[in-house]
Amino acid sequence: MIRNETIWVTGATSGIGKQLALMLAQQGNHVIVSGRNKQCLKEMLLNEKNISTLATDLVNDHVDWIGQQLGVITERLDRIILCAGNCLYFEMDDPDWNIMKQVMDINFHGSVKSIQAALPLLKKSQQRGHIVAISSLATTAAFPRAEAYGASKAALSYFLSSLRIDLAVEGIDVTDVKPGFIDTPLTQANNFDMPFLMSSEQAAKHILKHIVKKPYEYIFPKRLHWAFCILNAFPKRWLKMNVKKPADRNHETVNHGAD
Ligand SMILES: NC(=O)c1ccc[n+]([C@@H]2O[C@H](COP(=O)([O-])OP(=O)(O)OC[C@H]3O[C@@H](n4cnc5c(N)ncnc54)[C@H](OP(=O)(O)O)[C@@H]3O)[C@@H](O)[C@H]2O)c1
Repeated sequence: MIRNETIWVTGATSGIGKQLALMLAQQGNHVIVSGRNKQCLKEMLLNEKNISTLATDLVNDHVDWIGQQLGVITERLDRIILCAGNCLYFEMDDPDWNIMKQVMDINFHGSVKSIQAALPLLKKSQQRGHIVAISSLATTAAFPRAEAYGASKAALSYFLSSLRIDLAVEGIDVTDVKPGFIDTPLTQANNFDMPFLMSSEQAAKHILKHIVKKPYEYIFPKRLHWAFCILNAFPKRWLKMNVKKPADRNHETVNHGAD
């Protein structure tokens, strides 16, 4: 169990990040919760113990300002858990190419910015610092309409793998968490079947149980991962299963992608 640590959780105003932050605070950690939703941050501060808040927009706020604000709250960070993210689907029938940048800006650059801002404080941890970032099981295979989301998470995963090597000598570990479908506001708008859907409470429990050991990667649920790996091993069949005629694109119920 994670105890007596100072932990920054981004995307802590909703979904997986909020659950993680609440559980970590209840376990006696000092948790810095961040997001743009000031009302939600205020309520968390009022209702929970062991919480500090940092209202920040990880796309638009400057990295130096974020670092300074963290420094006002704490002298050191033991762990950061990066959950801030968004999912927008690309619609080939009515394409909005701007979403590629929009989604990259938060899912990839927002995570990079968070790490950059937190790194000086992570280096001051009295234990090995730990960076945990939530990418996605969607990176296992290519999904229709997931050009922006899948690419942003694949970029994040590669970044984390590379960073892990470069930070090892600095005494900082890096874990890439790849969840399947979790029931949160992000997935509640999905109009397709989501196999092995789990609640954000269940997901947070799984994540907290596994990140203690600081694995390089934690993928769950395993059954969904293996199913995607097998399907991905047959790319022609996978393509055939997913190809839709334009008129059918909005009516299919399966195989539209992990979150
Ligand atoms: N749900 C799933 O099935 C699933 C599966 C795999 C991976 N993931 C990933 O898990 C992470 C959490 O997702 P979730 O499902 O919990 O989504 P969610 O409930 O929609 O939460 C997203 C969080 O990101 C924050 N955020 C978004 N844009 C931001 C910005 N510009 N600056 C700062 N914070 C921002 C939001 O806070 P504010 O609105 O207050 O800023 C919110 O707290 C995401 O990275 C997502 O891609 C989710």
